[in-house]
Amino acid sequence: MINRDEVLTRLRNVSERVTSDGKAVASLDQTVHEIFPVAITATEGKVLRDWIVKEKVATTIEIGLAYGISALFICEGLLLNGHNDARHVAVDPHQSGFKNCGLQLLEEAGVTDLIEFHAVESQILLPRLLSEERRFELAFIDGSHLFERVFLDLIYLGRLVNPGGIIFVDDYQLPAIARSVSFCLSNLGWTLEELSPADEHHQWAVLRTAREPAPRTFRDFVDF
Ligand SMILES: C[S@@+](CC[C@H](N)C(=O)[O-])C[C@H]1O[C@@H](n2cnc3c(N)ncnc32)[C@H](O)[C@@H]1O
Repeated sequence: MINRDEVLTRLRNVSERVTSDGKAVASLDQTVHEIFPVAITATEGKVLRDWIVKEKVATTIEIGLAYGISALFICEGLLLNGHNDARHVAVDPHQSGFKNCGLQLLEEAGVTDLIEFHAVESQILLPRLLSEERRFELAFIDGSHLFERVFLDLIYLGRLVNPGGIIFVDDYQLPAIARSVSFCLSNLGWTLEELSPADEHHQWAVLRTAREPAPRTFRDFVDF
């Protein structure tokens, strides 16, 4: 039986330790990993957690687990919301390249029960989840930063996230990410709910998908 407060304390200890040290030590082979700038900062993580709490969500999905820092903050938000059916789907085809540090930290934090992990490219997994009629309330994108891959992530997550749901995107300072997002804002009726200041490594944009998608014809196209 999970005691939510105990797990929250354990999880916060792990995320505070790792984000303040900036290091993770892999149990697999004792290698020491500098987690930044690959991982999101604690500042971004807290904003992500607060969106999960504000939207009262129970079901989340993230693209790009890596060191699991975003996942720790997502799980903190889910625990704070206290839904019995809380679930976080994490996707990363290269977790072994990170010596499983992300999965290790989630286990250390005591939240393995919340996690469904897929070691596969999101561009392959997301259509599969769609055909299985899975649905989510909030998505976080921090996977491949190539234009066509982020674009596919956005389009599929736009269908997997409930209408009016939240898609939180990292690395908006990169032109490929901003351009992919621009299509969704100009053509799909999504709205920009929050845009953080940019620095060299990170900037987040919080998007809300259309509550009622407008019908579009083949002539409806806004350049972006
Ligand atoms: C910037 S890191 C994510 C950092 C993570 N959010 C954190 O806070 O620790 C990007 C991750 O995306 C993963 N990735 C790369 N291509 C991917 C793809 N096609 N589908 C899903 N994940 C991908 C990488 O393996 C890497 O783990």
